[in-house]
Amino acid sequence: MASTASRVFVPRFVQLHHGNAAAVRAELAAGLQASAAFTSPKYLYDALGSRLFDAITELPEYYPTRTEAAIFDRHGPAMAALIPVGLTLVDLGAGNCQKAARLFELLHPARYVAVDISVAFLRDALTALQCQHPGLDMLGVGLDFSAQLTLPPDAGEGSRLVFYPGSSIGNFTPEDALVFLRQARQAANGGAVLIGVDLIKPVAVLEAAYDDALGVTAAFNRSLLRHINHLLGSDFEVGQWRHRARFNAQDARIEMHLEALQDLTVRWPGAQRHFGEGEHIHTENSCKYTPPQFDALLREAGFSRVEQWRDEQDWFAVFLARD
Ligand SMILES: C[S@@+](CC[C@H](N)C(=O)[O-])C[C@H]1O[C@@H](n2cnc3c(N)ncnc32)[C@H](O)[C@@H]1O
Repeated sequence: MASTASRVFVPRFVQLHHGNAAAVRAELAAGLQASAAFTSPKYLYDALGSRLFDAITELPEYYPTRTEAAIFDRHGPAMAALIPVGLTLVDLGAGNCQKAARLFELLHPARYVAVDISVAFLRDALTALQCQHPGLDMLGVGLDFSAQLTLPPDAGEGSRLVFYPGSSIGNFTPEDALVFLRQARQAANGGAVLIGVDLIKPVAVLEAAYDDALGVTAAFNRSLLRHINHLLGSDFEVGQWRHRARFNAQDARIEMHLEALQDLTVRWPGAQRHFGEGEHIHTENSCKYTPPQFDALLREAGFSRVEQWRDEQDWFAVFLARD
């Protein structure tokens, strides 16, 4: 008698970053020693940072997650009608993997590839997700895609749906976003890119989303200092720093900073940096767009067919971009 048992997968993992600790230390040190100190937002995400981000998405002030989810609830079938079934679904900055998981029923992907820099968190999330979807081939990729988005051969050949939700594209300047979108188009390999984009809106709404009353976003930002201490061997004291979030109207972006509460010196092996009271470390940009601006960016990146769906308040947009 023929077996009717279907295949049960276990998640596979590929680790493509953190191989070069010296390069990470050099990048961090260069940013901290710049006259206007800065760090990349990718350092906000270690196991604790990822958990704090999950908590942020539950906050009433943090409209992006629930607004984007409502767009998918309402327009998911229309999106799915334009996306071939059986693609490899590549989730960039997958985090807890829940957004992509909600698309499985709609898109019927052949494979799910979850990519994130926060490797331990990703591993837990993907392992749990695999239990819920044992018949779907899943691959976790530990990768820092800020410099170059190159997927490993295990991600499979053929066309892909590159999913980049949560308005994470806003962490790039528009110039760098263009470079990244070109790489995403290449990674899609003739498939499509599905991307969530935060839109320009009243400043009070924007600033509250990045500076909530409970202080969860402040904890998320300040937690970065512990992650840096771990990576760089520095001696940041979290209690000496205050969270700041403000809208920079000229560059249409929310900026997150950490502000020194007093004169202090931070030391790490081989170097140090003095911060005066009130001096800042710039830790994240979150660029906001108008729908025509982002449509133009996608077309400049080489896509010729661009669809978009927005919520009723025009606070958030989901774009589907194809060749
Ligand atoms: C704003 S969260 C979004 C998480 C989830 N996709 C969502 O939309 O709710 C950004 C995610 O991207 C990951 N990430 C940030 N910078 C990254 C980088 N340079 N390379 C890979 N992943 C990165 C973070 O670890 C985090 O999971």
